Amino acid sequence: MFPTIRAAVNGLRHSLGLRTLQTSTALQHESLFNHRDTPEDNPDVPFEFTPENKKRAEAILAIYPEGHKRAAMIPLLDLAQRQYGWLPISAMHKVAEILNLPRMRVYEVATFYTMFMRKPTGKYHVQICTTTPCWLRGSDEILDAIKKNLKVEVGETTSDGMWMLSEVECLGACVNAPMVQINDDYYEDLTVDSTNEILNDLKAGKRPAPGPRSGRYAAEPIGEPTSLKGDPPGPGFG
Ligand code: FES
Repeated sequence: MFPTIRAAVNGLRHSLGLRTLQTSTALQHESLFNHRDTPEDNPDVPFEFTPENKKRAEAILAIYPEGHKRAAMIPLLDLAQRQYGWLPISAMHKVAEILNLPRMRVYEVATFYTMFMRKPTGKYHVQICTTTPCWLRGSDEILDAIKKNLKVEVGETTSDGMWMLSEVECLGACVNAPMVQINDDYYEDLTVDSTNEILNDLKAGKRPAPGPRSGRYAAEPIGEPTSLKGDPPGPGFG
């Protein structure tokens, strides 16, 4: 949807007391798209891959043929973020240097994907999907439960540095909606109770098992299969 049309629709929904169609871009606009030099994030802050990660970077680069090394940009940015905890501008410059690309090409990628954190995050980064399938399955209630449990708003980090809450677009687990991603783990088929259980376990230092909370193993139908129940007929047998 064009931004102006989206704004008009959202304005109408707002005047009717309804939730906006999409909020994450507005909520994260500053942190996602704009860079402002700060003491902890400016081009003079040195960034270098550790010797171990240099070897990993070389292994990543070796996957891609000559002339296509730029395809290693996302894995290299991810490696930098895992090393540093978030992605400072000097790490983006390092990736541009390794790939021999203009820095702008790296900024374009790093500011597009919500997986790249442009400012320090909490120990646990809770990303809640509020795109249509998750929203229809109750992501608003899950978001409220998270805010209440952690006492944090979207885009904020708790004062103890433990939790950051982000609202993001589809994380590709729609069939298990509603869901959240916490660091690298997906928690799916959530209810308010199971969400609180997960957060309380993490607070207690446990690692709750990732995956669906409905008893499903993965994304199979809840209950009995409804199709493909018999042996498939051979080719030509209907
Ligand atoms: S809509 Fe939430 S994971 Fe796709």
